[in-house]
Amino acid sequence: MTLATPMPKTMSPVPGPHTQTAEPGVPVGGIATAVGNTPVVFVPCEPGSRRGFWAKLEGANPGGIKDRSALYLIEAARRRGDLAPGAPVVESTSGTLGLGLALAGIAHGHPVTLVTDPGLEPSMRRLLSAYGATIDVVPAPHEVGGWQQARRDRVLHHLAATPTAWCPNQYDNPDNPDSYLPLGRELLAQLGHLDVLVAAVGTGGHSAGAARALREALPGLQVIGVDSIGSAIFGQPARPRLMRGLGSSIHPRNVDYAAFTEVHWVAPGEAVASARSLASAHYASGGWSVGAVALVAGWVARTRPAGTRIAAIFPDGPHRYAHTVFDDDYCRSQQLLHAAVPAEPEEISHPGEREAICWTRCTTVLDPRTATASATAAAEL
Ligand SMILES: Cc1ncc(COP(=O)(O)O)c(C=O)c1O
Repeated sequence: MTLATPMPKTMSPVPGPHTQTAEPGVPVGGIATAVGNTPVVFVPCEPGSRRGFWAKLEGANPGGIKDRSALYLIEAARRRGDLAPGAPVVESTSGTLGLGLALAGIAHGHPVTLVTDPGLEPSMRRLLSAYGATIDVVPAPHEVGGWQQARRDRVLHHLAATPTAWCPNQYDNPDNPDSYLPLGRELLAQLGHLDVLVAAVGTGGHSAGAARALREALPGLQVIGVDSIGSAIFGQPARPRLMRGLGSSIHPRNVDYAAFTEVHWVAPGEAVASARSLASAHYASGGWSVGAVALVAGWVARTRPAGTRIAAIFPDGPHRYAHTVFDDDYCRSQQLLHAAVPAEPEEISHPGEREAICWTRCTTVLDPRTATASATAAAEL
C-alpha cells in the first residue's frame, strides 16, 4: 500500500466546508479544523501489483465522513437563519452523522439530540453521549418504512415539542450532497485523473456530491453505487438489514440516480470477509460499507483494462466494528463467518428482475419514485 500525496491537516489546499465563523469575526477553531483533507492510499489486488484502487480514508476525520456534512449543514442553516444561535439540533442517525453533529454542535454551540434505534452499537452510544449528545432510541420499527421511518417520525415529535429545534434532514436536504463537493475536489487534487468512483449509498449524500465535483473536470467518470441487499434505494424490496451505514428502507431524495452508471448490492457476509481481508492485508479497513465498497472496487480493478484509475470512498475506519464485523462470536451468531465470497457478482438486467440475496450487479439504474409503471411494479417484488 502506497501513501499518495499526503495532505497535512494543517494545510488546506482545497477549501473545506468548515470555513464559516461562529460569530462575526470569531473563527471556528478547535476540532472542526481537523475535518477534511483526508489521505488516499493505494490498495493493490495482489502484493506489488499495479492493479488496484485508491482508497479515500474518510475515517481519518475526527468522527468519520459525516463530519463534513454535519459542519456544512449546521453552518448553512445558521447562515439562513433556520437555526438560531444555541438552538437544539435533532436528527435521525445510525451513527456516523451523529458523530459529526456532536462535533459540529460543540464547534458551534448547539445541543444535539440523536434519534436512533436499538441496533446502534453500545460503544457508539456511549461515545456519542460522551460527546454531549442526547440519545433517544425508538423502540419498534415502522410497519412499512422500517426503523428509518420510525426514527423520522420520532424526530417530528421532537420538532413539534421544541419549536426552536432544527433538523438537518440528511435524507432530503440538498446541503448534504453539497457538503461533499470538497471531497470530490480533494480526490481530483490527489489523483489527478480518475476513471471510476466507487461509493456506498445510504442517504446518497457523499456519492452525489463527490461525483458532481469530479464530473465537472471528468465528464466521462463512471460512478458505481454500492448498496446493501434488502435495501429499497435502487428498487429492490426493503427487508430487515444487518449492515448499517449503507442501504435504506426509504427512498432518500439525495440519491442522485442519474449519476450512477451501475449499482451493486452486497450481502453482510461478503462485506465482513472483505473488511477482514482488507484489515489483515492492508491495515486500512472499516466496517460494513468499507467492506462492501472494497469488494466492488477490487473487482473493478481486476476486470477493467490495465491502467484504469479507480477511487473508492471508505466512509469510516474499523474501530466502531470491533463488536460486529471483527467479532467472531457476533459473526458466527449471524452466520457471517467464512462466508463464500464469489470472484464476481451475479448480474441482473433490471432491478426488478429478481431479489438480490448475494453480491449482484445491475447496469440499469432507476429512481424507484419516478420509474415507469412496470419498473415500479417490479420494484415491489
Ligand atoms: C459508515 C457509513 N457508510 C456509508 C454511509 C452512506 O453514506 P451517504 O449517507 O452519504 O450515502 C453512511 C451513512 O450514514 C455511513 O455511516
